[in-house]
Amino acid sequence: MDTRLSSRLQIILLCVCCTECSTDISCRNEAGEPVDWFIIYKLPTNKIGEVGSGVDYMYLDSSVGSWQMSKYMVNTSQGAIGNTLKQLYTGQAYKSNSSVYALYNDGPPILDYIEGYGHTKGVLLFDHSQGFWLSHSIPHFPSFPERGYLYPSSGKVNGQTALCVTYGYDQFLSIAKQMVYLYPRFYNCSVPAAFTPDLSQLAQLCEGSKPRLASDRNVEHLSSIKGEKFVSFVKSEHFVDDIYTGWVAQALGADLLVESWQRQVNELPSNCSLPKHVMNIKRIRLPGPVLFQSHRDHSKWCVSQAYEDQVTCLGDLNREKMQLWRGGGLVCTFNPLIYKAFRQVVDWYLGC
Ligand SMILES: *[C@@H]1O[C@H](CO)[C@@H](O)[C@H](O)[C@H]1NC(C)=O
Ligand SMILES: *[C@@H]1O[C@H](CO)[C@@H](O)[C@H](O)[C@H]1NC(C)=O
Ligand SMILES: *[C@@H]1O[C@H](CO)[C@@H](O)[C@H](O)[C@H]1NC(C)=O
Ligand SMILES: *[C@@H]1O[C@H](CO)[C@@H](O)[C@H](O)[C@H]1NC(C)=O
Repeated sequence: MDTRLSSRLQIILLCVCCTECSTDISCRNEAGEPVDWFIIYKLPTNKIGEVGSGVDYMYLDSSVGSWQMSKYMVNTSQGAIGNTLKQLYTGQAYKSNSSVYALYNDGPPILDYIEGYGHTKGVLLFDHSQGFWLSHSIPHFPSFPERGYLYPSSGKVNGQTALCVTYGYDQFLSIAKQMVYLYPRFYNCSVPAAFTPDLSQLAQLCEGSKPRLASDRNVEHLSSIKGEKFVSFVKSEHFVDDIYTGWVAQALGADLLVESWQRQVNELPSNCSLPKHVMNIKRIRLPGPVLFQSHRDHSKWCVSQAYEDQVTCLGDLNREKMQLWRGGGLVCTFNPLIYKAFRQVVDWYLGC
């Protein structure tokens, strides 16, 4: 064969292999295949008119198009979250020096709660090519890598959400910057030496030190591996305000409907004082229908009230007085499919 033709064939083959590479670190769908992003909505035990298992959940990605009831239980390693974390647990990634990982949660598994960290929960795992950022609302999750996949009983009772996005390496430099504002409790992490020139602040966080901040909050525009746009808003504990009312609604220029876990005494009421309004969602109706009240839902997300604004954010903070003083953030998207999925489930909210 002509050598030029054969080298061209090799390049083509390489490209075909790489786009389908099953070894690339990515978010994984329910079947374990790489996906650009996915969202899960774990249902609470107490629904209106029905008591569930607390481990059933709905799944969304760009190919399924709308909420799908999962055939798996969230406390087994099958299903999207289990398949995604498998890359850390069984891929031995946590023992390798060719990938970075961090497990963070203000309420980590096993260990005691320590005040002072951001109110934020998630997982980062990436190598020099790509990886994922999974952010979620589940307490005491995920388990230490040596223990394999375990789902805590404290994560069963309430509703929970998780957002996973696959990003290329360069985007993790921006995400690392956001981590400094969040000041997460990294209860298990590794930033191998080969990464420290690019990620010195992430390495500092992993070692337990707190890098200095230039301001009290920051915005980064992120682009997934397939080019889907996300906007990350993060605040440190020095920005003492409700992230939704005091910042994100005004920055997005959109009235927001917010679903967050509110406990009676500290609840922040719907607020129409500033140009863009923020209103509390009180009841959710997922397809089925599955109905539940917001006080059964530990998720933190919001949607624009108006369909034209088409924005959805998932994040870390509740509309609660105590959390004005906490670090935390929101990841926002203008994806119409995600917007439709979340806007349609708002069954009842309180206007001002
Ligand atoms: C998952 O949770 C359900 C409901 O609480 C329970 O019946 C089941 O045994 C659990 N499975 C595992 C693997 O923990
Ligand atoms: C990474 O680990 C391998 C095998 O353990 C070792 O041979 C190599 O020197 C390490 N590289 C760095 C940069 O530490
Ligand atoms: C956490 O991560 C490190 C690797 O970075 C590992 O050696 C350590 O044993 C892990 N587990 C715990 C419980 O800290
Ligand atoms: C509405 O929110 C803003 C920003 O957080 C706050 O300054 C204001 O006091 C709130 N208004 C009411 C009536 O709670």
